[in-house]
Amino acid sequence: MKALILSGGKGTRLRPLTYTGAKQLVPVANKPILWYGIEALVSAGITDIGIIISPETGTEIEKKTGDGSYFGANITYIRQDSPDGLAHAVKIAQPFLGDSPFVMYLGDNLIADDLEQYLQEFVEKKLDALILLRKVSNPSAFGVATVNEKGEVLALVEKPKNPQSNLALVGIYFFSSLIHNAIANLKPSARGELEITDAIQSLLEDKKLVSARQLKNWWLDTGKKDDLLEANRIILDTDLESENLGIIEENSQIIGRVKIGKNTQIINSTIRGPVIIGENCFLENCFIGPYSSIADNVKLSETDLEHSVILESAEVVGIHQRIVDSVIGQRAKIHPALKRPKAVSFMIGDDSQIELI
Ligand code: TTP
Repeated sequence: MKALILSGGKGTRLRPLTYTGAKQLVPVANKPILWYGIEALVSAGITDIGIIISPETGTEIEKKTGDGSYFGANITYIRQDSPDGLAHAVKIAQPFLGDSPFVMYLGDNLIADDLEQYLQEFVEKKLDALILLRKVSNPSAFGVATVNEKGEVLALVEKPKNPQSNLALVGIYFFSSLIHNAIANLKPSARGELEITDAIQSLLEDKKLVSARQLKNWWLDTGKKDDLLEANRIILDTDLESENLGIIEENSQIIGRVKIGKNTQIINSTIRGPVIIGENCFLENCFIGPYSSIADNVKLSETDLEHSVILESAEVVGIHQRIVDSVIGQRAKIHPALKRPKAVSFMIGDDSQIELI
């Protein structure tokens, strides 16, 4: 059994962060999103992993993630010259995949369920495809499955205008090597992509063994800001353990589960967990509220922050308004305000500089 993680793509929904970096490396609780997928695969026993990368962000992903030894895996990087669809990514990975069955995992997806139960069913029933489904309130934004009362898949449609069900396809699929034949016969869709939903639909039409399971727990597609913040909230809520390797000075208070990295200095501040703060950060006169993740080398001064993700080397100084539901990019700087707006909500790209006047 192999795995193929798709970590190329355009990332338009997470601009401007994706102008300068890979969305799959955006951190959730200070760990790149992509790494959650790798860890989930390894803990299901799959260690032979191919990762699809784009020419724009591939080097960054390769450098950060390495050859897989950190995860106990063996990673092969496969370059996709243009993001021509999920099925196109499988097509170019065929030399890596060979005749092996495989899990296809979208590199910006996170699920709570263990993969093992689904993997076991896929293997035991010798399925040609096992897809995972989850009820959503806006099915038109997803690939949608119609299933009968027995749970058998009847049809799949990519982003339908008039969805026949509210069951969206989760970005994790199990395939036998038959999927390659289905992909070989695909034509690009109206949006110019080779669609994996069309490939699965053709397996269905050929009466191959296609099955679906509904996820038991949450699923997030972190390729958009709200899901990214929600993933951050859930992971901090469920996985974070307290640890303090930093220096806590004068009048500071650490309340609840808080993890603080090496050489981080906290002066006259209150941190109310769950909160994670990386290494070499400097925080002075701050209130850091629940569900905040602060990456390495961040400087925060006179800042009131909650439910936000701050990327590496960002600086926020003297904003006398609470910052909520925000994602602040690498090296972004936000400096003192003269007038005070009532509320602010940020989605700021890497290297941005914002002045409130
Ligand atoms: P999407 O999020 O569907 O596509 P995208 O990355 O282009 O993002 P957006 O819609 O915001 O423009 O892709 C899901 C995952 O698959 C993501 O990790 C990127 C990856 N991908 C590829 O590796 N190759 C591709 O051709 C496509 C379309 C996506």
